[in-house]
Amino acid sequence: MNFELSETQRMIRETARQFAHDELASTAESRDEKEEFPHDAVKKLGELGFMGMVVPEQYGGAGLDTVSYSLAVEEISRVDASCGVIMSVNNSLVCYGINEYGTEDQKQKFLKPLAMGKKLGAFALSEPEAGSDATNQRTMAVRDGDFYVLNGIKNWTTNGLNADYVLVIAATDPAKGSHGISAFIVEKGMAGFTAGKKERKLGIRSSDTVSLAFQDVRVPLGNRIGEEGSGFKFAMKTLDGGRIGIASQAVGIAQASLDAAVKYAKERKAFDEPIAHLQAIQFKLADMATEIDAARLLTLQAAVVKDSGKRFTQHAAMAKLFASKTAVKCALEAIQIHGGYGYIREYNVERYLRDAKITEIYEGTSEIQRIVIARSLLQ
Ligand code: CAA
Repeated sequence: MNFELSETQRMIRETARQFAHDELASTAESRDEKEEFPHDAVKKLGELGFMGMVVPEQYGGAGLDTVSYSLAVEEISRVDASCGVIMSVNNSLVCYGINEYGTEDQKQKFLKPLAMGKKLGAFALSEPEAGSDATNQRTMAVRDGDFYVLNGIKNWTTNGLNADYVLVIAATDPAKGSHGISAFIVEKGMAGFTAGKKERKLGIRSSDTVSLAFQDVRVPLGNRIGEEGSGFKFAMKTLDGGRIGIASQAVGIAQASLDAAVKYAKERKAFDEPIAHLQAIQFKLADMATEIDAARLLTLQAAVVKDSGKRFTQHAAMAKLFASKTAVKCALEAIQIHGGYGYIREYNVERYLRDAKITEIYEGTSEIQRIVIARSLLQ
């Protein structure tokens, strides 16, 4: 077993770290405050090749492995978790889905600009009555000649307001349950396709989350991904990869919390010495560091298994479950170490807690991850 990163992986991590420092650090707080989408940063991430990292170069991607991708999402999220999720959704849910299951035409038309960062993607699975119970799709896609006519509502769509292309999961034959669900690429500007108002969120406030409405939207047959009826498995396999992205985001938030806690503990004095000299603080820092390493190793393990071509469903679920819990715990501990200063906006740790919480909810709640892990153990 080799725990050393390759030269390329180290270089990608360094590039992401530098980018986050130069381009995100000074503006993350104000964008969070103003709920402002990071248009410039996303454009630059595209130019760096970070919006389609594992997509082959022939389709506009960077042709890298999932380990490099995970390291990059971690570094970006360490400074700005909103930017981290924008990047993760475009990479793991949208580009990966089209690259793995799309036709050559779909790759040329949609994947290339998405992977190059010239267009942005979103993934629409959840509905008002289909969150964890994802098979309960109410959005209908009815075949009409060379088109499908889509009607329904999607919820909680990250990037939904700014996306050019949205992967939409819809029922084509409700009687067949999970085997009667299909996947489509819906393009911005298609008649009858509209985005609702931006949700006002606890955290990741500079990324947009919206509901989407489809009213008699005519989607060409050529925009269906895979066979009719294959959409649920497509969504689940795509989410397996998405969960590595969210685990990486969570590790980044946890690491940021530790960084802030260490810095503050060395500076802040109490009882005539830096609080870092107190064992009460040292034990907290030691636990945080240990759990972050464990979360990172689980996440990188899932990335390695994915890159090996083996099924990684369980590994991704374990990584997301543990990393998201670690992010929340580390952010809380960082606040505790900062005392009252942790509870106000002046230090970033309160943002870390607000950003961390969503990692236990989106792309499958922690309860869903436990179901996925248990089913895999028991099957
Ligand atoms: N890979 C391949 N196939 C899979 C699979 C996977 N990971 N998971 C399920 N399947 C297959 C099953 O094998 C089964 O196939 P057969 O019928 O041929 O045997 C079929 O799909 C149905 O699976 P289940 O019977 O397990 O389905 P279920 O109804 O019990 O649901 C679930 C399983 C795990 C609970 C699933 O519904 C789930 O993951 N729910 C959570 C959904 C989720 O993560 N939503 C987040 C949306 S994205 C988001 O958060 C917004 C954003 O923008 C970021």
